[in-house]
Amino acid sequence: MKRKITYSHPNVKDIVFSRETYSYCPSKGILATRKFLAEQTNQLKGVQITPDDICFFNGLGDAIAKVYQYITLTSRVIGPSPAYSTHSSAEAAHAGHEPLTYKLDPDNKWYPDLDDLYNKVKYNPNVVGILIINPDNPTGMVYPYETLKRIVEIAKEFKLFLICDEIYINITYNGVRAYSLAEVIDDVPGISMKGISKEVPWPGARCGWMEYYNRDKDPDFNRFCQALDNAKMIEVCSTKLPQLAIPKILGDPRFKSYREETNRNIGKRSKMIADILRTVPELTFNETFGAFYNTIIFREGTLKPGQMIKIADSQISSMVEQWVDQDIPYDKRFVYYLLGAKGICVVPISSFCSELQGFRVTLLEENEKTLMDTFTSIRDGIVEYLIS
Ligand SMILES: Cc1ncc(COP(=O)(O)O)c(C=O)c1O
Repeated sequence: MKRKITYSHPNVKDIVFSRETYSYCPSKGILATRKFLAEQTNQLKGVQITPDDICFFNGLGDAIAKVYQYITLTSRVIGPSPAYSTHSSAEAAHAGHEPLTYKLDPDNKWYPDLDDLYNKVKYNPNVVGILIINPDNPTGMVYPYETLKRIVEIAKEFKLFLICDEIYINITYNGVRAYSLAEVIDDVPGISMKGISKEVPWPGARCGWMEYYNRDKDPDFNRFCQALDNAKMIEVCSTKLPQLAIPKILGDPRFKSYREETNRNIGKRSKMIADILRTVPELTFNETFGAFYNTIIFREGTLKPGQMIKIADSQISSMVEQWVDQDIPYDKRFVYYLLGAKGICVVPISSFCSELQGFRVTLLEENEKTLMDTFTSIRDGIVEYLIS
């Protein structure tokens, strides 16, 4: 007789094999899952919510598109720069203007320049909200508690609401933890955006959600949340399978230790990268403490036209020469040469709504030797490029 496998923990496989999984479910999301998530937020002992304050979206990308779409046309949400382009492009497209940003400061651990934020809010009466991405993409910065409290104060002073993208909230390392919006928001209206794309990680599930905080404190904000809910009601169902899996995965005792170990490994890689790239004096390098990115900046004046890295393959070389033979930012030019010469793809910081020149890398390579080889190669490429 074939032996039956029994699992000591509820298994995602059970959901896959259940007929019920393949039927419709509420457009706003499965009630039991929203109850589970509301309970998790309430355990933080900050703002308290009910399952009604949660609405599911087809990944946070969908949530981001919707949130700016339903803000009054003339109103603006100010966000961090360098900017994660899904937010900044959606907000800018909605307003029909350039993105409105506050500076993250590479000379101060990428912490936000709070004077810049304050002044931009004060002198721009169209600003109705502040966006926080915590931990941040692309810098890997984790907002300190005091900084979050100051942003909450600014929101209170100017009667703004807050949007906090917390998709990386449980991805922190090297002794740092991220404070949730729910813990610091007090009585300010706000939306936290969460999802399973990064921390499970299950990006293909297209499953993210919004949590509305303090709807009862502001009728305009309440109407805005209602409009977001209504926008989802147009769809007859939400992403059911991942929603059924959420309590099983996040509620499994193994999840915490899985996350701790994975975070520890990202932290280790962050330090290894720091050891390699800190040695280049032309770079501003900040160690990261959250998410899985690092943004490295070339000091002012170090990037110039005409710099290059030798490319052995003549076909690739002529292709890169064609790419750089246009009016492009200096950091994009460097990125093309690095790709052509070393086969390594990084993202220029000028493409994150920033006047800074630099590039973003990910900390996801799990093979230690490949990681070391890749970053040593990046460093060698930078050195060659700068002295050419
Ligand atoms: C800050 C941030 N928010 C949202 C997303 C998108 O998440 P999703 O896969 O749920 O659309 C990403 C993905 O890179 C991200 O970095």
